[in-house]
Amino acid sequence: MVFSASVRILLTRSNVPLGILKSIDIVRNVTMLKSDPNWWKHLFDHVYLVTDARSVCDERVTCREVDMLEGLLALEPSLSIVDLCGGQGRHAAELCRRGFGNITVVDYSDYLVQKGIELTASEGLMVSFVQADARSTGLPSGRFDIAIVMANSFGYFHDPADDRRVLEEAYRLLVPGGRLLLDLVDSELALRDFRERSWHEIGEEIVVCRVRELSGDSVVSREIVMSKKEGLIRDQTYFVRLYCTEKLSELLAGVGFESVHTMRGFRPQDEAEDYGFLSDRLIVIAAKPTCPPLCVHEGKKGGR
Ligand SMILES: C[S@@+](CC[C@H](N)C(=O)[O-])C[C@H]1O[C@@H](n2cnc3c(N)ncnc32)[C@H](O)[C@@H]1O
Repeated sequence: MVFSASVRILLTRSNVPLGILKSIDIVRNVTMLKSDPNWWKHLFDHVYLVTDARSVCDERVTCREVDMLEGLLALEPSLSIVDLCGGQGRHAAELCRRGFGNITVVDYSDYLVQKGIELTASEGLMVSFVQADARSTGLPSGRFDIAIVMANSFGYFHDPADDRRVLEEAYRLLVPGGRLLLDLVDSELALRDFRERSWHEIGEEIVVCRVRELSGDSVVSREIVMSKKEGLIRDQTYFVRLYCTEKLSELLAGVGFESVHTMRGFRPQDEAEDYGFLSDRLIVIAAKPTCPPLCVHEGKKGGR
């Protein structure tokens, strides 16, 4: 393979990221990026917690995100909250520290769920973790006042019908009048500032390189992670469908949500650096109607 050979040469020669990027360009010119439809089942492990640490392991960032949640949703500690695709439960843990006692995290990654259980137990925080697919959580209907999907954890499926199934599941889990908050990539800004390649270093040891390709309404990214000590520790391609506000509003309305509001310009990180898809965020809030349309009609028929 062209790339593996290049990486091997680079690793023995130097740690210069420019060299790595040149080798990525070689691959870029000879192949179209393709992602495994099940990439999301494998990517979110211990390496992810290193490559995305700037966004998902920084307590200041998490606190700003939780401030945003509390402010926009006017959260009260008595509310029950489900965090779909909640990872290691960093938002749940912070909410718990702030007095929220009824929080459930659902995530597919067994590694992150175990990590979350350990971290919250070590602090004595009461958070429930469920290892499940967000399309079908197995949790009871109408159990939660609030559902959240944080840090661009939506749009991962090749078939858009599967993205919709996540929203349908959120709808099912909510009480009538319950609210859903989606924290997503701002597709307009992501497209405007689209960078085909980027890299960042993590400490002295790790370099993360990303090559991105636009494909219709989706971005396919190849992530190559190199460790000075261990060599190549990741070479994986992933996929994210970008939703504009109109498309999302339409999708949410189709699922049954109402009162869709969007907010742009949320940027919880400190620096004007490239945080990939987590740089500029679009916040979308929608409500499950207090009374489904069918009930209204039945009520009228009954003459009430
Ligand atoms: C970018 S991470 C964000 C995690 C978390 N929301 C946060 O802010 O730290 C995306 C998460 O979505 C989870 N995920 C992806 N697809 C999923 C699915 N179909 N069902 C449940 N979890 C999923 C991954 O395991 C991962 O933890």
